[in-house]
Parts: sequence; C-alpha cells; structure tokens
Amino acid sequence: MRAAIYPGSFDPVTFGHIDVIERSSKLVDQLIVGVLNNNTKSPLFSVDERVNMLKEATKDFGNVEIISFSGLLVDFAQSHNIHILVRGLRAITDFEFELQMAQTNRIINPDIDTIFLTTNLQYAYLSSSNVKEVAMYNGDISHFVPGFVINKVYEKFGIPKR
Ligand code: PNS
Repeated sequence: MRAAIYPGSFDPVTFGHIDVIERSSKLVDQLIVGVLNNNTKSPLFSVDERVNMLKEATKDFGNVEIISFSGLLVDFAQSHNIHILVRGLRAITDFEFELQMAQTNRIINPDIDTIFLTTNLQYAYLSSSNVKEVAMYNGDISHFVPGFVINKVYEKFGIPKR
C-alpha cells in the first residue's frame, strides 16, 4: 500500500491546501494530513480546531486521515512507516524554503523523500497568513477558505458573523 503524509500548519485550511490534498490523495492509497502541534508561529487556531476544520474540509475524500503531530516530521512519518512527504509549491519564492526543508529531512532520515505538487494556478497567490491579515481588517475571505471556516476566522479577531 502506498501512503504519504501532507504536513503543514493549516492555520487555517485554505482552498489551496484542499486542492493539494485532493490531488495528492489520488496518487496514493492513503494520505495522512499531518497537522503541526509544536508550532513556533503561535497559531491562531488550536491544533484541535485545525484538525477539526481539516476533517470537515476533507470528509468526502475516502482515503484521507487527519492526524496532529509534535516533534520532527520525519519521526512522525517513520512512526507511521511512511516514506513519502508531499508539499505544495506555489511560486519560486517557496522553493528555497521547501528545498532546505526537504534536504534537511533527508539528512535526518534518508529513507524519506519529499515530492512536490505545483499549486493550482487559481490558488498560487493564496496563503493562510494572507487569509488572517485580510480577515483581521474585516476583508472578504470567501475566495480563500471554505464557507464553514469563514466565521471561525472572523470570530478569532472579534469580528461579528457575516
Ligand atoms: O504549513 P507550514 O507552516 O509551511 O508547514 C511547515 C511544516 C509543518 C511542514 C514544518 O515546519 C515541519 O515539518 N515542522 C516539524 C518540525 C520539523 O520536522 N522540522 C525539521 C524540518 S526543517
């Protein structure tokens, strides 16, 4: 059985993430979405909130499981006996960080490889950070995140439901 992990912060999940999840889930028998718990970036959403949003967003994908992890990604992968990591590449600006991360992970555990999916052009500009910035100033985030996520983001900034 071919399995892979798509790791990330998902703070919050965006249409760009969902696109990568949908496409990569078709390439493998099982896809685990790994949600980082020990996040130094002080996430807006708790790990449980992020896991639950991802579960809702992927409920129609039969072979996708959402699991949080702490510590090193390669250790999480190894503990599930998974040797493939999936990351999305939006633009050249992502490349340097992603290359460093993939190479670091391979030094730590040479059995684990990272494969990259180019993000759907429709979502090439999209990031969770931008979603939060737009929402913070009461901007419209309906083009960026699923409907059920919208008010959860505004709520975090004390903005009344739309
Ligand atoms: O969505 P993000 O924030 O770009 O995802 C980054 C993530 C979670 C993949 C990365 O920070 C990670 O794997 N963190 C776990 C700690 C780790 O293994 N670090 C070594 C890789 S350089």
